[in-house]
Amino acid sequence: MDGTGLAQEPPPATDLRPEIPHPARIYDYFLGGKDNFPADRAAAEQIIAIAPGIPEAAKANRAFLQRAVRFVAEQGVDQFLDIGTGIPTEGNTHEVAQQVDPQVRVVYVDNDPIVLAHARALMAGPSHGRTLALQADLRDPAAILADQQVREALDFDRPIALMLIAVLHFIDEEQDPYGIVKTLLDALAPGSFLIMSHGTGDFGDPAQTEAGKEVYRRAAAQATPRPRAQIERFLEGLELVEPGLVVIPQWRPESAGAADVWAPGYAVVARKR
Ligand SMILES: C[S@@+](CC[C@H](N)C(=O)[O-])C[C@H]1O[C@@H](n2cnc3c(N)ncnc32)[C@H](O)[C@@H]1O
Repeated sequence: MDGTGLAQEPPPATDLRPEIPHPARIYDYFLGGKDNFPADRAAAEQIIAIAPGIPEAAKANRAFLQRAVRFVAEQGVDQFLDIGTGIPTEGNTHEVAQQVDPQVRVVYVDNDPIVLAHARALMAGPSHGRTLALQADLRDPAAILADQQVREALDFDRPIALMLIAVLHFIDEEQDPYGIVKTLLDALAPGSFLIMSHGTGDFGDPAQTEAGKEVYRRAAAQATPRPRAQIERFLEGLELVEPGLVVIPQWRPESAGAADVWAPGYAVVARKR
């Protein structure tokens, strides 16, 4: 245990595999970050050549994360389980939520060692409030739920905000993404929230979507953009917060201009009854 009251696991053996593009580092490049390697930048530039609006869409996704975290914290939820955290950048989950309630507990989970290395340095530990960063894989939700540090950090008898932002499209159909989300939601108390965004090919030319998927075929995780009907399957039994499942920048935008950004993805905040 440390001064936060939240235990920290020992650092994992780190294999960054710089020669293989990784989703977290590609996304970092889109956001203007510096935590990426030449292979990540090359893959990101290929995607930008296919869809030039992608960096702005990534920023719109990040802005959605911040609006949704603030909204959920304002509903009184003081525990966040942010799976597929990404490399720290401006306005991380704990920073936004702590503005509403300095006592919030945030558990960051990602399977990429570079995310964990940065998260431990920049987002976890005593100077960051009650935060914890854990290396684990969304494809094994039972292991996340059973993890002793997660159990010590979060009280599953009270509402938790489960965050799956721009991560489920890295889980293909064979890996049962719907079962994964159901396992996680089933473990949460009534009054918990799901905050989700998900890539889609619904707004683009199919050839463009296919070309984007092709770039990720050479990366550490493949991309599976989904049509709206499949994304709705994640939400079965949940109560959608207004305005429901919408194009990412249209989830409670702070300005009319911000709502008009092109983004190939849907966003939603939903409540467990
Ligand atoms: C596009 S980034 C999104 C980061 C952040 N959620 C956001 O929206 O700003 C996707 C993140 O999901 C992580 N990720 C991908 N597959 C994962 C898996 N199976 N388990 C855990 N994390 C995963 C990647 O390492 C990366 O950090």
